Amino acid sequence: MHPPAPPLRSHPRLQLHHSAPLDLHASFAQDVAIGLAKTPKQIPPKYFYDQAGSLLFEEITRLDAYYLTRLERVILAQGLRDILALVPARVAVVEFGSGSADKTRAVLAALMARQGRLDYIPIDISSSAVAQYGQTLLAEFPDLHIQGMISDYPQAIQRLGGAAESPRLFLFLGSSLGNFTPEESVEFLGNVRAVMGKEDRFLLGADMAKDPAVLNAAYDDPQGVTARFNVNLLARINRELAGGFELSRFAHRAWYLPEHHRVEMHLESLEDQIVPVGARGISFRKGETIHTENSYKYTPPLLTTIVQQSGLVPLGQWSDERGWFTLNMLGPA
Ligand code: AVJ
Repeated sequence: MHPPAPPLRSHPRLQLHHSAPLDLHASFAQDVAIGLAKTPKQIPPKYFYDQAGSLLFEEITRLDAYYLTRLERVILAQGLRDILALVPARVAVVEFGSGSADKTRAVLAALMARQGRLDYIPIDISSSAVAQYGQTLLAEFPDLHIQGMISDYPQAIQRLGGAAESPRLFLFLGSSLGNFTPEESVEFLGNVRAVMGKEDRFLLGADMAKDPAVLNAAYDDPQGVTARFNVNLLARINRELAGGFELSRFAHRAWYLPEHHRVEMHLESLEDQIVPVGARGISFRKGETIHTENSYKYTPPLLTTIVQQSGLVPLGQWSDERGWFTLNMLGPA
């Protein structure tokens, strides 16, 4: 029933820590059961990223309509010198949601050029992301040492603890913070803040509020890749939890709600139906949805409030000329 896990080859410069309890299958089953029993129905977005979903997300990042990744890469490349000028001389890099670590590569390379050996701690819930992309980076960079953490964020932060030997640069790119509500964002950033030393820095990617037409296209692209990404969640339930979703009886929906500062993604039932999931039958009314994702879009004051309430201070901001996406360097207040 499970897709085969890629082999974890060992490498002298790669260590992997699995957070306990690593029963991702059990937590997926539980979160789906709980979420589908709620009104309105909802499933947390972290479950998008099985092997198929991770590939579909990579495809999304290459879409014309999905400007986020492209803009962030350009802002990072153009601002790199100034960005790293705000980072202490010798750092370790800790990255939340490292995924394919594609944009991170430029940061890692620049840091190794100035300090030689670099310790990189990617944190991701997907073991294939940490292990496979780790191998690729190690082959490329002889000065790189990876201590990957296959974990959710709260457990990873706990494990990181305080007082590291060298200062750390935390990375949270791609506007992944946007999956958290502002309240959850303050909690997450505050937890990171609590383990930060005086010299530690946090580089945060944030997608900004903009023309609703641009946002609606970014989350409902004409090629239908985002639709496949969203519907894959149902296919994953079919594969891993003995589900019986008829994929053609659900439709991808995405809309920007400016007053809530967020894009919502849903899966809409196209008819009244009862869907088997394991031993249960889940009823849907025609038009009823499963809420699968929030993606917050920040106004400058909203972002400032979140940062300040987390006990952090903004040290620098970089953006494209339209102000669509920002990179923010933060330090402990
Ligand atoms: C990975 C959470 C930043 O919200 O834009 C892309 C995920 N969802 N298209 C985002 C996503 C639909 C993405 N993040």
